[in-house]
Amino acid sequence: GKSGYDHYMLKEIHEQPRSLRQCLSERVDELAGTVDIDDLADLNPRGVQFVACGTSYHAALYGAELFQQAGIPAQAFLASEYASSPPPIGDALVIGVTQSGETADTLSALREADRRGARTLGVTNVVGSTVARECDHVFYIRAGPEIGVAATKTFASQLAALNLLALGMAGGDDTRELIGALRDLPGQVQEVLDESGARAVAETYLESDAYFFIGRGLNFPVALEGALKMKEITYKHAEGFAAGELKHGPLALVTDQTPVFAVVTGDGEQARKTIGNVKEVEARDAPVIAVTDGQSDVERYADHVLRVPETHPRTAAVLANVQLQLVSYHTAAELGRSIDKPRNLAKSVTVE
Ligand code: M6R
Repeated sequence: GKSGYDHYMLKEIHEQPRSLRQCLSERVDELAGTVDIDDLADLNPRGVQFVACGTSYHAALYGAELFQQAGIPAQAFLASEYASSPPPIGDALVIGVTQSGETADTLSALREADRRGARTLGVTNVVGSTVARECDHVFYIRAGPEIGVAATKTFASQLAALNLLALGMAGGDDTRELIGALRDLPGQVQEVLDESGARAVAETYLESDAYFFIGRGLNFPVALEGALKMKEITYKHAEGFAAGELKHGPLALVTDQTPVFAVVTGDGEQARKTIGNVKEVEARDAPVIAVTDGQSDVERYADHVLRVPETHPRTAAVLANVQLQLVSYHTAAELGRSIDKPRNLAKSVTVE
């Protein structure tokens, strides 16, 4: 059942600390500063192609960035596009990211990759699913069953699992820091859940017809995911943009009626540039909601702030996403939407 929550979605949002712990359990050795992904560590990919749909595609974009940062060329593809015109594979490892393990588009893409001689790896939540059975290798995200059509805890666990895979296959300079950040992540997600502030923001902008989400680098997939969640459960127009793309077109849509959620973590080059984009929307009188760890001065340009604890740049995306999940949830709840079963959508899409 829903354990006292009004919706499965809210229950599953709140289950994230636990599902993240399950994902990490026995896979990270903090003392040794190592991760254990069994024989997957020996895959040694020279290149990685991700295939996925929807929310899982957003996780794949994030995963591709992690491998790139570790020096392994990687790209994320929409499975439906990949299946109909696959790019050259070479000796790439093809990773299908799919919560259900049954998504037809993702299965087709993986089958096509297999036909072309690629090694395949399924990253999935469902033991014994078609993807788990058909791929050469499988890595479980261990999020536990997800009932709500909107993917929430499985997205968080996909991001955690992709961190483990990138560390296990490609390593990195700051492995110890990242392992520490992963260990702290479930507790920090709990902190966000305990004092989110998202509900007040949702109530403030309930009347808006359109919502925009911007982020850059690892926060770009968070912006896309924030917008997808908003559209699927509230039925409102929402778009996610790479922050730098705003001025190449979408800025024309920005008015005092369009709240802009800016995901800004850290205080580096990316934060600085995104703050530049925030100033551009602020100049058009758009309400700005900063989702931030407080390291930069983005709050100065924001009408509302949704805080997340400070963490490693990689894990920051998980925390920021929890805030956006809650904004969408509370918006949909106030509007009385059918949150767990949005119109026209199915939990598992088994047709192409
Ligand atoms: O089971 P999958 O992860 O392969 O599903 C892919 C998409 O259909 C799915 O992520 C969908 O976008 C979400 N339910 C949206 O919340």
